Amino acid sequence: MDMQGILEEIVDAVAPLRGQGSVASYIPSLGGVSPESFGMSVAMADGPVYGAGDWRTPFSIQSISKVFSLALVMSYDYDSIWARVFREPSGTPFNSLLQLEADHGIPRNPFINAGAIVVTDRLLTLTGDAAGSIRGLLRRESGNPAIDVDSAVAASEAEHGHRNSAMAHLLASYGNLENPVERVLANYFDQCALELTCEDLATASRFLSRHGVSSGGTPFLTPHQSKRVNAVMLTCGTYDAAGEFAYRVGLPGKSGVGGGIVAIVPGRCAITVWGPALGPSGNSVAGIAALDEFTTRTGWSIF
Ligand code: DON
Repeated sequence: MDMQGILEEIVDAVAPLRGQGSVASYIPSLGGVSPESFGMSVAMADGPVYGAGDWRTPFSIQSISKVFSLALVMSYDYDSIWARVFREPSGTPFNSLLQLEADHGIPRNPFINAGAIVVTDRLLTLTGDAAGSIRGLLRRESGNPAIDVDSAVAASEAEHGHRNSAMAHLLASYGNLENPVERVLANYFDQCALELTCEDLATASRFLSRHGVSSGGTPFLTPHQSKRVNAVMLTCGTYDAAGEFAYRVGLPGKSGVGGGIVAIVPGRCAITVWGPALGPSGNSVAGIAALDEFTTRTGWSIF
């Protein structure tokens, strides 16, 4: 298969969708990104990496970081996180507070904000530096030692993070945080503000297409754990649009409000798309269309 040719054709095919939707502005320093940007990269499970468009431009990974925090916690703790967070789709927006109270402080899944805050809290207990350990994983897996937090984005989110603060305090009131709210939130904002290119993110996610085997060839997750992270991505990775994402793309995927999406073809590759203009559920409009094209052209949907 001519993977480079396929990516170039897809980038051309989705060009009319660039800029459709709106760039996230509730974190003000994300608002300055050009809505017209678009990049795509594929990291094959057995090594080669391909890319087209703006695939080497760094962007804010935001909620995509939640995949790596969950993977790290599972690598240390195996399954015990599931006593503190469910793994069911929420059907509500990623920053909703409604369900958390109805569910007595147990978030619906680790990819909505409330669930991710619980996972970050656990990672903080386990490592003493949750955001630093996610950055370390991303550097190691991508081979790019320059990956770092965009501190202006982290500060902007902290300044405007009233909903996340409310969620963290509600979690604490139910006894579902182990660390002080302010430390947990600082780590959460830093992990969301990590900046990666499509190329970095595809190579860093490749272990999920290799049944948990890291770039260095050693097991990071067991095949069993890797299967489970992919399953939660499929059912919960794009929030209340997870059904639509499965229908159109047919792969485990995780989006972020920076406009990135990571999708995994188990046994074959990891794919990253980036287009900052978002649809109503907070997912990249051009990015979903590109992934739809990808599975249509390659036949690599899991369905
Ligand atoms: O906590 C937030 O609201 C952001 N740091 C991350 C949200 C996000 O990326 C949701 N994704 N679609």
